[in-house]
Amino acid sequence: VGIPSLGVERFRAELLPRYQALGAPVIVSIGGLGIDEFFAVADGLRDADLAALEVNVSCPNLEAGGLAVGTSPDAVAKVVSGVRQRSRVPVIVKLTPAVSSIAEVAIAAEDAGADALTVANSFPGAAIDLVTRRPLLGRGGGGYSGPGIKPIAIKLVADTAAAVAIPVIGCGGITTAEDVAEFLIAGASAVQVGTATFTRPTAMTEILADLPDLLVRLGVRGAAELVGSTAGGEAAL
Ligand SMILES: Cc1cc2nc3c(=O)[nH]c(=O)nc-3n(C[C@H](O)[C@H](O)[C@H](O)COP(=O)(O)O)c2cc1C
Repeated sequence: VGIPSLGVERFRAELLPRYQALGAPVIVSIGGLGIDEFFAVADGLRDADLAALEVNVSCPNLEAGGLAVGTSPDAVAKVVSGVRQRSRVPVIVKLTPAVSSIAEVAIAAEDAGADALTVANSFPGAAIDLVTRRPLLGRGGGGYSGPGIKPIAIKLVADTAAAVAIPVIGCGGITTAEDVAEFLIAGASAVQVGTATFTRPTAMTEILADLPDLLVRLGVRGAAELVGSTAGGEAAL
């Protein structure tokens, strides 16, 4: 969860060492309110010991009136090439699903130097209290995530994987090892688990524990064999 962060200086001083102490590769998610803020955060992390940066382009682009940076292929290209120049580690670009053509944005990110793409962020959503008729979320709308978005995310992963040569990291509603396999078959090379960890903090370790048996049941020797293996090829989805 990168958006409500402490800012890059305090993140580096107070939080990053705690993640690094866990011993796993650390990928830091960055965002900004305006394109220059992405660059300032990337500069602030330049000499940090990281495995990768993930650039969350779902943030509003205040210079373009608050539209998400990620809805404009040009704005995405600008952010990605600027972060790419500033970063010594692989740059993953996390796309928003709220676009008419994810392929167009994915290609813009790839052409601008992205090393991988995460597909996708949460969907814009809202809920209303029937009595007060006020939005139930504090800021009106918010991000809709979890199992309800999984089929939409699978389709976006397939569309993205068909459009680019760089790896796609699938994300959206994953709660089980079976969900992981579905994303891999659709074309993802890796996955992320978000909402499930809020309701079930052990979700990721359970998924990892369940995967080996599932791979045996599916008749493959490793998860990599599943990647992009839809019967009928890319056109099947
Ligand atoms: C409470 C919450 C906070 C989130 N904060 C961020 C964030 O700061 N940056 C980001 O890129 N995505 C954020 N997301 C989106 C998730 O990382 C993920 O892309 C999305 O929820 C879809 O996956 P899921 O269904 O597994 O949660 C957040 C999601 C939730 C539920």
